[in-house]
Amino acid sequence: MLEVHLGEVDISPKELDKRAAAREFPYDSGVWLFKELIHESMPSKCIVSRREGNTKLYSHKRVSEFAGIRELYLKHEGENPTGSFKDRGMTVGVSEAVRLKAKIVCCASTGNTSASLASYAALAGLKAVVFIPSGEIAYGKLAQSIAYGAKVVQIKGNFDDSMRLIQEAAAHLNMYILNSVNPWRIEGQKAITFELMQQMGWDGPDWIALPAGNLGNTSAMGKAFSELKELGFIEKIPRIAAIQSEGANPFYLMWKAGASELVRVKHPDTIASAIKIGNPVSWKKALKAMKISNGVVEQVSDNQILDAKAIIDASGIGCEPASAASLAGVKKLREKGVIKAGQKVVCILTGNILKDPNTTVSYHTNKLDSIKPSYMNPPVEVDGNLDAIMKALKA
Ligand code: F0G
Repeated sequence: MLEVHLGEVDISPKELDKRAAAREFPYDSGVWLFKELIHESMPSKCIVSRREGNTKLYSHKRVSEFAGIRELYLKHEGENPTGSFKDRGMTVGVSEAVRLKAKIVCCASTGNTSASLASYAALAGLKAVVFIPSGEIAYGKLAQSIAYGAKVVQIKGNFDDSMRLIQEAAAHLNMYILNSVNPWRIEGQKAITFELMQQMGWDGPDWIALPAGNLGNTSAMGKAFSELKELGFIEKIPRIAAIQSEGANPFYLMWKAGASELVRVKHPDTIASAIKIGNPVSWKKALKAMKISNGVVEQVSDNQILDAKAIIDASGIGCEPASAASLAGVKKLREKGVIKAGQKVVCILTGNILKDPNTTVSYHTNKLDSIKPSYMNPPVEVDGNLDAIMKALKA
């Protein structure tokens, strides 16, 4: 189960555009729309879909000015049904589990994957087991996984421990694993790239930036682009900028050193809980993606991530902390002169603004250790009378 290879593909961009306009099952999903490029032989009766994908592209003057890029777009994967891009890989992974007649599906997660798995498993009538690092994932994501009915196992350890243990447990207990070690997850995640290219009239940007944790998404993007190029759907492959947090940066360290092996970060630490990962499982495929796209890997601080998030949020678009690493990375690469002001750039916003609300409120009230917020908007507390309210609003 290392990688899926496309066979003959009998579909063209024009036909895909027509199909998008018609919107019939299963092509009303922003993943299954590209079925021939993802899982051609999947029978319709096995497809478990929430019409995922179909996410929008945004641009905003304030975001552009912040990064110093004139033409900058944000693709909002937080608009997926469970609040993150994970739904794209999950619809394919869970459909495959149904096709294989699996009974139990499982994953380890920093939050989003578990919520996504729990939802799709419930839809399909499968049992779901998720391993999460105890006390380290966003509360809303824990709530979502429990509420959708998954068996939630809180591991006393970090995500990397959870990831190692779920692989062992899956083998022992005959559970179908749905982390990105499962190639069908990667196949589904390719749809971000397909949909983006379709939205841009199959003429891509110069750069695409995305937050990098377990590296499944980076891998999927590289694979998607090399297939589109091979099929003749596109002429040039955009450069991928994979952005890590400084405290959880094994891929960055490896790339910067030009090394051929990844050295894990033993104690990953970042406020962006989704990408708090020291031993990413998909680093080999992600390295391939960097080579295919002439990509770069950059790292950003928690402070830079939260300032970028504040700008995305205040522009009315909003995202979770990890997602903002993409914009923080683009700003840094612009300042270094790697990305030019006149180049066309897309940032992938991987998750919803409602994740990690404590972090957001603490940022705006300046209650985070070692973070100096540049764009605070603290709420005010007043006595319950009109005088006090007038005074507060005039100030
Ligand atoms: N952004 C968000 C919001 C994520 O949830 C993740 C990963 C990433 C970025 C990084 O993507 O792992 O493909 O490099 N979340 C996983 C999870 C690990 O369990 O939800 P990646």
